[in-house]
Order: sequence, then structure tokens, then C-alpha cells
Amino acid sequence: MANVAILKIDGKDYELPIIEGSEKERAIDITKLRAQTGYITIDSGYLNTGACTSAITFLDGEKGILRYRGIPIEQLAAKSTFTEVAYLLIYGKLPSDVELKKWNESLTKHTLIHEDLKRLFHGFPKDGHPMAIMSCMMVSLSTYYQDSYDPLNPEHREISMIRLLAKFPTIAAFAYKKSIGQPIIHPINKLDYCSNFLNMMFSVPAEEYEIDPVIVEALNLLLILHADHEQNCSTSTVRLVGSSLANLYSAIAAGICALWGPRHGGANQEVLEMLTYIHESGQKVSKMVEQAKDKNSSFRLSGFGHRVYKNFDPRAKIIKGAADKVLSKLGIKDPLLDIAKELEEVALNDPYFKERNLYPNVDFYSGIIYRALGIPTNMFTVMFAMGRLPGWIGQWKEMIEDPGLKIGRPRQIYTGATDTDYDTAKKGK
Ligand code: CMC
Repeated sequence: MANVAILKIDGKDYELPIIEGSEKERAIDITKLRAQTGYITIDSGYLNTGACTSAITFLDGEKGILRYRGIPIEQLAAKSTFTEVAYLLIYGKLPSDVELKKWNESLTKHTLIHEDLKRLFHGFPKDGHPMAIMSCMMVSLSTYYQDSYDPLNPEHREISMIRLLAKFPTIAAFAYKKSIGQPIIHPINKLDYCSNFLNMMFSVPAEEYEIDPVIVEALNLLLILHADHEQNCSTSTVRLVGSSLANLYSAIAAGICALWGPRHGGANQEVLEMLTYIHESGQKVSKMVEQAKDKNSSFRLSGFGHRVYKNFDPRAKIIKGAADKVLSKLGIKDPLLDIAKELEEVALNDPYFKERNLYPNVDFYSGIIYRALGIPTNMFTVMFAMGRLPGWIGQWKEMIEDPGLKIGRPRQIYTGATDTDYDTAKKGK
């Protein structure tokens, strides 16, 4: 098979190397294109642009395959825990029992946040969106850990990664408690990652919170399913910010902002709001689908469609199955689940959605489970961020440890005014 592509420009042939990944996906390497030809490439929205090579996550959007470090998502969902998956993504292999114990201990040891940092929570309005608070708190962490600023120092990297993973649930739960006016609940070291988070969210000093294993299991599952998804918008943001050698806290804060958007992680909140609207207004599901197809309306069916999946999102399949199980185990009958299923059926049988290969994505059913676990709607995207954190960190670490690391700096084709004299421009007004 040819390992070069020939590009013909102005009658001259240029050979561009072809590189092949371990799953046989191929790319034309244009690293030297500008130097050799004077041309750049344009790919708005990066539909065809590989920004890096990566050994972390493989996904095949046509076949609906997702694997972390080669292991199918279905197996990890059935057998692993979130902290084990975090280790796998960051260090490239499943931990031994001893390594996992040590890893879990490190994550437990760093859960507390500096007392002064707590005062920052009081500066936000009660109804401030928790994604804004999370991003602000993550970057604020950097002011408390000036001892670990240098991304090129392996020890600094290690402690920053652990601090972020350990403190994220504490900060998320504190933000929630502050928004509802309840006292904050501190982490308890004997609890595992998910139980600790649930306890900080739902316990009150006056009454002990009974940790339900069904809820812990469901939370573990959701976090695993969100843990990485190769070069998506927020991960690419983390890499881009990190490529300037900004500290990890800043890169993660930027990733949280990118995730917040409704076309990305913010879709999970939008899905639930859409289902609630249908339920409360009595709006027909078919009417929503019609509106989503109307090119004069900016409304899209949240939780449907994906840049890479042109088939069922494997995560959505798992979550849909889990939603039924979790709700029945918890004895909950949620009318929104029935509406979601009806909406899915109508959309999947509609030529508009069929022609464009629009299927339910990870955000379509996740909110139904979060709701059953008692997580408020405006915290859904924070849950996504908590799950995605090890992916962001693993991708950042892979980039920083690459000896060929370069600052991310795209080019452009300028389309504005050509050389314009100031006085002439001023007179023209
Ligand atoms: N409802 C209605 N039409 C849609 C939808 C939708 N949810 N998604 C895509 N389309 C249409 C779009 O209007 C376009 O139509 P046309 O070819 O006639 O112009 C066509 O399908 C292709 O869409 P696109 O916007 O060019 O595709 P994209 O790959 O740039 O966008 C997406 C992918 C996820 C942003 C988009 O499908 C979308 O906006 N979905 C709703 C938001 C959502 O659920 N986001 C979560 C994504 S999964 C988790 C994550 O990454 O965070």
C-alpha cells in the first residue's frame, strides 16, 4: 500500500507521507506542507484534522466502538471502577491490586481543600451556574499550589493530577451545598470516591446519609462512560492551553468552560429541560421533532447527533439499559424516561434523522439516571466534568511527555481589508 500521497500544485508534485495508526486509520502528514509549498490547509471545525497521535482512546464512529487503552467500554462498564479507569487512562495500564490501593489512598488523602478557598464560594450568587464555579475554583487551586506549577517537572505533574482528581468532588459538592444554603460536609477518608461524593452532596449534620450501593454503582458506571473520548472540544481545549505550558489547573479550568456549552457536555442539562418541558406542557413529541428539523429554528434535539458517531453511541446504549435497571432497583417510575424513549423512537424513524445518521448520544439518557440519584439538573454537566477529568489529565500528560511537544498555534487565511492608509480610512467615514 502506498505510504505517500501525491499533491499536485501549480503543475508540481509533492510527496506527503501517510501515517497509519494501530487500528489502520490513515492520515496524510502535512507537517512540512507550508515549508515545501507555501500552502496551508483549511479545515473549519477540524472535521478532518488530526491534532495529535494518541495511544489513549480508540473510537470508530461508523461501527460504534469505544475502547480505553484497547479495552472495550462495555467491559470496563461491567467490571471496573472509576478510579481504576482513571489510573488506566493516565498511566496506560490497569493497576495491580497494590497499585490500585495506593492510588485510591492518594486520592483520598488529598480530598480536603484549603480553608481560605472555601471563602471564595461566598462570592458567587446563590444561583450561579456550578460549571462557572467549578472552572473558577479549579484555576483558583493554582494559587494555593505554587509548589507544583511546572508541567515539565514529573513530580509537579504527579501531585497536580492527584490534587485535581481528589478535590474535584469536594469542590462540586461544596458548590451544591452552598447553592441550597446547607452547611458543607467534609470528605470522609474511609469512603470510596463515589460514596464520598454522594455523602458530601446529600448528608446533613442533623441526619446521617445512608449510602445506597445501587446509587454508588450507577455513579461509578456514569463516570466510567464519560472518562475519555479522544480529541473532543474540551479535551482539545485542555491540550491547547496546556501546550503553552500553563499549569494543569488552568488547562482543566479551560476544559470545564469548553464542556459547558450546549453542543458539548451542556447537552445533558438541556435534554432534561426539554423532557421536562414536554411533560409539563403536554407538547407532542412529534412536534418537538418537527421543530428540530425546521431550518428557521435554532432548536436542535439535545442529546442527538455526534461529530464522530454515525451509528449508535455505545455509551448511550449502555446508559439506556442502565436507566431501566437503576430506576427499577430504586423503585422510581419516571415519566421522563417514557418520553425520552418515545422521542428516540420518533426521531430514529424520521427520514431527516436517518439521512443525517443522528442517533442518541451519551447525554440523551444520562440525565434520567442523575435525576434518579438525586442530582439536581444544573449539576449534570458538573457530573460530566467529574467523569471526564481523568481523560483530560491523561491526554494532557501524554502531550506534555511527548518530546516533540509544540505550542498549539493554528494558522488562518486572512480575508479582511488589504493595506489601508489611516488618513484615507478616517476621511472615508
Ligand atoms: N437536531 C437536529 N438536527 C441536527 C442535530 C440535532 N440534535 N444534530 C445535527 N443536526 C443536523 C444539522 O442541522 C445538520 O443538518 P444539515 O446537514 O441539513 O445542515 C446535520 O445534522 C449535521 O450537523 P452538524 O452540526 O454539521 O454536525 P456536527 O458534527 O458539527 O455536530 C453536534 C455534532 C453534536 C454538535 C450536533 O449533532 C448537535 O448539535 N447535537 C445536539 C447537542 C448534543 O447533543 N451535544 C452532545 C454531543 S455528545 C457529548 C459531547 O460531546 O459532549
